[in-house]
Amino acid sequence: MKNGLNQKLINLVEFYNLIGVDFLSSNNPMSRKTKSLVDISSGTRLEKLNKLKKKLQNIKNCDLKKNANNLVFGDGNINSKIMIIGEGPGANEDAEGKPFVGRAGKLLDKMLLSIQLDRKKVYISNVVNYRPPENRKPSEKEIERYLPYLINHIEIINPKILVLLGSTALNSLIGNEIVISKARGKWVQKTIGSVKPWIIASFHPAFLMRQPEQKKLAWIDLKMIREKSKILKI
Ligand code: URA
Repeated sequence: MKNGLNQKLINLVEFYNLIGVDFLSSNNPMSRKTKSLVDISSGTRLEKLNKLKKKLQNIKNCDLKKNANNLVFGDGNINSKIMIIGEGPGANEDAEGKPFVGRAGKLLDKMLLSIQLDRKKVYISNVVNYRPPENRKPSEKEIERYLPYLINHIEIINPKILVLLGSTALNSLIGNEIVISKARGKWVQKTIGSVKPWIIASFHPAFLMRQPEQKKLAWIDLKMIREKSKILKI
């Protein structure tokens, strides 16, 4: 009886891990109000992005940076009105210095293609810009450290639509208490720094590779993005 209960508990924890609930993270609210690192009121978008990139290259006392080969800043069209945020670079991204170029990236490319988008039409970045060792999730401290850079990145791109892939991006920008399986597929318009994009969360492609039956829900989210792009005349 006791063993049966333990097994049920283990199954439940495994299920929650699968859908992205992090039992180890604290519920302390993360400060999402930051002062811009790069002044967004002057210069071209490219100049501002280059300044932000320099700031990330010069980040000090960061174990993620120490263990990584390359900064993974962003990829795609810097003038796009659609910005996609993942979690953090993996081995392939670390080697190439570009986000989403590994297996999850190939799936992301296919997902984008299904709604007539590609990397020349969107802009992609991550919550943290250096690879967490062993592909682990970035810790809360690491997320908090990189959040001002991410917010500034979003301000500079100034997207009309912001797509958050997976629980790390969702929890970093919207709130710790939210579960991806509940939050996905819903539009919210929210102030991020000085901009106010329409935001939608969806499953991370790496999760979809492990749970292909969830692709039908991701497809609903993709269609919502396509519809919203039409409404916003993107
Ligand atoms: N997963 C991510 O979250 N980001 C990448 O860039 C690659 C894989």
